[in-house]
Amino acid sequence: MKKLIIINGPNLNLLGKREPNIYGSLTFTEFLDKIKSKYPNASIEHYQSNIEGELIDKIQEVGFSYDGIILNAAAYTHTSIGIGDAVKAIETPVVEVHISNTFGREEFRHQSFVSPNAKGIILGFGLQSYELAIQSFL
Ligand code: DQA
Repeated sequence: MKKLIIINGPNLNLLGKREPNIYGSLTFTEFLDKIKSKYPNASIEHYQSNIEGELIDKIQEVGFSYDGIILNAAAYTHTSIGIGDAVKAIETPVVEVHISNTFGREEFRHQSFVSPNAKGIILGFGLQSYELAIQSFL
């Protein structure tokens, strides 16, 4: 069984009520329940933090034993050299995901410190971006 983890960064705990025109109206728990029952042959964990260092700790913790990390570092994508370095330091492949098409938004969202060391990048498909990332590991 593939061991996967979705790591979500700041403000993604507000999915469902945060700017629903951009991020949709489903909560992440609702979405995750659906995904888990759709892919019973994968172990799909979820971790969310609003704190940069906690995200780095989690990437390090799972990064030498899990089969895949699906990482939406949210705003830290565009600012965090520390998260970028963590992705570079580990062995587990990381697929970077974004709910929105960050290239269609403000210029500051066009830069990513995760992308250079990601196995691949999926963005702009709403919550389905996560599902496509999961499929890429299966
Ligand atoms: C996001 C895009 C980021 O620019 C933003 O800061 C987020 C969410 C996305 O999933 O579309 O918080 O990562």
